[in-house]
Amino acid sequence: MATRGELLARGRALLGDAGSQEPEACAQWLLAEALGTGRLEPLAEPGAAVPPAAGRKFMRLVRRKASGMPLSYALGWHDFMGLRLKVGPGVLVPRPETEELTELCARLVKEKRGAGPADILDFCAGSGCVAVGLAALLPAARVTAVEKSARAVRYAEANAGAHGGGRVRALRGDNFRGMGPFDAIAANPPYIPAGVIRGLDPEVLREPRVALDGGGDGLKVIRMIAADAPAALRPGGFLVMEVCDGQAPAALQLLSGPDWAERAAYRDFSGKERFVYGRVVEHSSCSRHLRR
Ligand SMILES: C[S@@+](CC[C@H](N)C(=O)[O-])C[C@H]1O[C@@H](n2cnc3c(N)ncnc32)[C@H](O)[C@@H]1O
Repeated sequence: MATRGELLARGRALLGDAGSQEPEACAQWLLAEALGTGRLEPLAEPGAAVPPAAGRKFMRLVRRKASGMPLSYALGWHDFMGLRLKVGPGVLVPRPETEELTELCARLVKEKRGAGPADILDFCAGSGCVAVGLAALLPAARVTAVEKSARAVRYAEANAGAHGGGRVRALRGDNFRGMGPFDAIAANPPYIPAGVIRGLDPEVLREPRVALDGGGDGLKVIRMIAADAPAALRPGGFLVMEVCDGQAPAALQLLSGPDWAERAAYRDFSGKERFVYGRVVEHSSCSRHLRR
């Protein structure tokens, strides 16, 4: 039987030869997964023997990762705000900025509605990470997660079932016209300009193009959301969206018509303007009324 240390060394070498980023850390995660432990536990006893079944599982996971897939795909899960979400080929792996988007949205809901019930839309839901994150942070919220991709929405359904506390429903759809009214809309749409996609890291290119591609200027879905949000929001409700670095001014411009009472950009932890916020007017304006 191979020891933990021997397997880690073998995995690290295979991943390094395959050009994986951070082969050491990846090997540690994969061995922990095979053994059913936390990441660091196998390091404490490098001389301990690994049962053959766990050793075989580890090598299977290493080969998956070495084929160029994101670590979270190889593991089959991703930690989002402390929730272990199911992910895999066909759905975007949630990014750290999106935890910030979720926390920002929850904070704004609490500021505006206190601890009372709130109806929230997570549009472009992918794995449903924002929806289940909001349900965890806002115990009285009901969240509707809408996702276009048939493959991705299956992950959202599974994650809603596991982590949504019965307050998250996942629906397949490519718009939210006729839905609502919502107190808040959170969205992390595809926002990468189409021309940039080819040059992305090969691991990112294993993720679905529909999750990345925001059209020629990256704003295609953002534009649609900004146009449709006022009719789906309650008076005084708000939209908060994640955007690409550098897109905030153009996205804010889209929230500047008579439907919008307030707008702002928020920075992420690295200081970049990554989230745009718009609040619709308190009273029903003519244009909102006509669009319903
Ligand atoms: C950037 S990913 C975000 C996924 C998830 N919210 C997250 O943060 O990990 C964008 C998601 O929007 C979906 N999508 C793209 N266009 C859409 C549309 N018109 N309607 C609904 N979902 C859409 C993609 O399939 C993808 O899952």
